[in-house]
Amino acid sequence: MRIVRTIAEVRAAVGDAKAADRSVGLVPTMGAFHEGHLSLMRAAREQTDLVVVSLFVNPTQFAPNEDLSTYPRDEARDAALAAAEGVDILFAPEPAEIYPDGFATTIHVAGITEVLDGASRGPHHFDGVATVVTKLFGIVRPDVALFGQKDAQQVLVVRRVVRDLDLDVRIVACPIVRESDGLALSSRNVYLDREARSQAGALNRALDAGEAAHQAGREIVPAALAVLAEAGIEPEYLELRDAETLEPVARADRDALLLVAARVGAARLIDNHLLTGIPA
Ligand code: PAF
Repeated sequence: MRIVRTIAEVRAAVGDAKAADRSVGLVPTMGAFHEGHLSLMRAAREQTDLVVVSLFVNPTQFAPNEDLSTYPRDEARDAALAAAEGVDILFAPEPAEIYPDGFATTIHVAGITEVLDGASRGPHHFDGVATVVTKLFGIVRPDVALFGQKDAQQVLVVRRVVRDLDLDVRIVACPIVRESDGLALSSRNVYLDREARSQAGALNRALDAGEAAHQAGREIVPAALAVLAEAGIEPEYLELRDAETLEPVARADRDALLLVAARVGAARLIDNHLLTGIPA
């Protein structure tokens, strides 16, 4: 595996692969790899010939009060894990390589970015994600780009950018990877102390309760909220939304996402379940 820092180096490596008719897969990441990231790398390895992983803690998607400076960083560990998954290129640029002096363009997706995490974290968040992902697509020119379904709203934002800007890349969303108690893997789980870690499993249990209520024809959101309340967790949001448009829905008679965000101890955690539509 090669570690490269410049856009020119990535372009040259990808150009050689494309000239040889090899397909290119991209896994965009902010590092601090866990099994969720590794599952994306494995899927990329299965589906494409040249696997590029980007490792860039993107400053523009953090608000001033968020954890940019403390976000876990360990490039040597990440590089060893990526190499063990058969990744070909780890693209780990400095911020100035991505945002040189005079950088002035923002990709803004209207509508679906204004709710849920867009409302909680502010509009800069998805602007930062959409802009950096669009840049990575321009730099790497992947045939396939893989994202984790844990960030369900991010996946929808990226899909919308690809559709609206006619980008020639296939987006693949990979299943959420969970701990044995159901906690979705996240680089931010390292912020959980012992007490918060034992509380955090309630997020997935709440989504399970919502899903069980859906199957039984009962109200979904109250069932999920009850589990959180019992665990002493007050969510930033716990909502049922259309799985494509993110419009609020009362029932899952079409595919719907039950999404939750909550502060648990020092971590802000998100999770979601896809509820398959049961026609009314
Ligand atoms: O999901 C992430 O880690 C980031 O939002 C991404 C997609 C790498 C963009 O910085």
